[in-house]
Amino acid sequence: MPKAKAAPLTGQLTVVGLGLIGASFARAAREQGLCRLVVGVDTDSSVCRAAQDMGVIDRWETGLLEGCRNADVIMLAVPVLAAGKILQQLAADPDTSKTVITDVGSVKGVFARAAEQAFGNLPPGLVPGHPIAGSERSGVTAADARLFCQHKIILTPHANTDPAALELVSELWRRIGADVEHMGIEQHDLVLAATSHLPHLLAFGLVDSLAQRDENLDIFRYAAGGFRDFTRIAASDPQMWHDIFLSNRDAVLQQLDVFNTDLQALRQAVTEGDGHFLMGVFTRARVAREHFSTILAQRAYMQTMDKELIFVAQPGGGAQGNIRVPGDKSISHRTIMLGSLAIGTTEVDGFLEGEDALATIQAFRDMGVVIEGPVEGRVVIHGVGLHGLQQPPGPIYVGNSGTTMRLLAGILAGQPFDATLTGDASLSKRPMNRIANPLREMGAVIETAEEGRPPLVIRGGQKLTGIHYDMPMASAQVKSCLLLAGLYAEGSTSVTEPAPTRDHSERMLQGFGYPVEVHESTVKIESGHELSATYIEVPGDISSAAFFMVAASITEGADVMLEHVGINPTRTGVIDILKLMGADISIERVRVVGGERVADIRVRGSQLKGIEIPPELVPLAIDEFPVLFIAAACAEGRTVLRGAEELRVKECDRIEVMADGLRTLGVQVETLPDGIIIDGGPMGGGEVWAHGDHRIAMSFSVASLRAGLPIRIHGSQHVATSFPNFLQLCARLGMRVSAEVGE
Ligand code: S3P
Repeated sequence: MPKAKAAPLTGQLTVVGLGLIGASFARAAREQGLCRLVVGVDTDSSVCRAAQDMGVIDRWETGLLEGCRNADVIMLAVPVLAAGKILQQLAADPDTSKTVITDVGSVKGVFARAAEQAFGNLPPGLVPGHPIAGSERSGVTAADARLFCQHKIILTPHANTDPAALELVSELWRRIGADVEHMGIEQHDLVLAATSHLPHLLAFGLVDSLAQRDENLDIFRYAAGGFRDFTRIAASDPQMWHDIFLSNRDAVLQQLDVFNTDLQALRQAVTEGDGHFLMGVFTRARVAREHFSTILAQRAYMQTMDKELIFVAQPGGGAQGNIRVPGDKSISHRTIMLGSLAIGTTEVDGFLEGEDALATIQAFRDMGVVIEGPVEGRVVIHGVGLHGLQQPPGPIYVGNSGTTMRLLAGILAGQPFDATLTGDASLSKRPMNRIANPLREMGAVIETAEEGRPPLVIRGGQKLTGIHYDMPMASAQVKSCLLLAGLYAEGSTSVTEPAPTRDHSERMLQGFGYPVEVHESTVKIESGHELSATYIEVPGDISSAAFFMVAASITEGADVMLEHVGINPTRTGVIDILKLMGADISIERVRVVGGERVADIRVRGSQLKGIEIPPELVPLAIDEFPVLFIAAACAEGRTVLRGAEELRVKECDRIEVMADGLRTLGVQVETLPDGIIIDGGPMGGGEVWAHGDHRIAMSFSVASLRAGLPIRIHGSQHVATSFPNFLQLCARLGMRVSAEVGE
């Protein structure tokens, strides 16, 4: 609630009905000075007196019209079925013809119909409303001026509502701290029937049904937390709910019928012992509540990403010890995608439980795939086959994950249903034409926002035809997207890349038994085969390990062992570049796990030197440049990177954002359209901005090992997209990085 009182918004506010809601509204309006006079109306004079004694109202009347005389705003806080009579009386009184009338009833259709009957039309001053707030307590004595703070108030204006009246009522609610939303009357009643009325009906019904049975005493004696949680709302006011069900009959019946069908399906599954069906319902339901609030708030899957985090990296830390970084992000995404499209059950260990990979799981759950986990890196995917995906119930929200959006677009292009892909603010700025254009060449129908930005609307039911595509940029996401579309395209689909990019898609397709031809820089796939479920152990992510490779390399006396890291040759550019700079890196215990090479990587401190980064290594280290720039800043001499314009379209413009931060630390930097020139030298400290890019935040954390002063890294919460336990591992090695909650 705002602290300072602003000028009154209106003259006289009359609140009719001094129960909890009415009295709380009156109290908040009075305390905030929103009007010059607050008049209370209640048929019970003792309630009125109590309200005045408590300072909830300025004066009171027991007669409706007396209390409403001269009112600028009338707030009806009476039971849903009582509003009709009051509206009739108000309509008959010429004094109220210009008054703004609003209410707090839980059903809006019945209120609007009553107003229409009373006034002969819907008056322009009528602004129906419904605050989604309440309390276990009731009556005027429970009046709480903060009851509506940070709660939603839904206003349901009608076609003739005067915009000035709507604005006045909206502002009254806003000033008492509520979040105002506008909605159509019918839509409100349907949504509330599903989210509020149906659960109350079920809770009342279940408790009563159990209470009527012979064994009721035993049932209630052994009723534990689950029963109590589920039926808590059965203790609500019976009269109020009686009114609500009688007033919102059609919408409640509609929701009840849908639920009845779903309940019958559950019954059927129990009858038939259909564990797969039950698992589907339970795994989806478990995450659904969280998922939908995520989408509504456009916020993250992981709660740690909901607030701004500032990483505070203190100088003077060390880098010593053995650690295992989380699973590879690229591979984790692909296990879900291919596992979902396979026949049979795919089991995965070492899955990255980071924001981006969770977004991919949710996307496939939205399309009807049953996915268990992740629990400690283990995921079980019940594949539906290439043609078993179902239309998602709404837009698929993929958060920050470019890989999910681009690869999924390839799969969706070949489905019989329409789908929409949306993402967070950062992803919504990233280019999608690089996949949309070649997919269109294959026959896909895709709509994008301006300049090929998300959201993507992908029309189903198109006939795709295989193409050969000469990729203009070195992008594994584009290559993978087209190969996945190729699973659904007539004939063969091939992609030639201008430089080698990560080949996890090709490898994993083969791991799922799908033939893929690779010839020099061209990879080719033909439709008509199937994917068969398999087991996958995801290796540690070399892109995450890279932060500690640099940390150890720039720290005198450091010795770090990174265990079980994926060293697929299309990902090891960072090792080659660091070695060229003079790093002391040894690759030990090389083995092959699930078609991917894995090793333990030992890195010791050394004096790095500046180099010209060989252009052929750029795509092989594309995600590691932010931290390589830190290595360059700590090296003797000049490091030059060219041919890396792709860095400008990652989670942020990684060239400019890194350059800004490095300059703050006192490093000499010059940016180029396709790269950067960095002169090594001493680093100070200061405030830098990660712009919501996980790799920038982690890179500047590493810089603290050589910084003279603390580095505060704003916007670091996105580290959870790829490396949720980054801070713990930093601490384990002796680095001094902690997180503060920002604004
Ligand atoms: C990825 C490919 C790369 C990389 C991204 C993951 C993948 O993107 O930067 O983090 O999993 O295919 P581009 O294909 O855009 O280079």
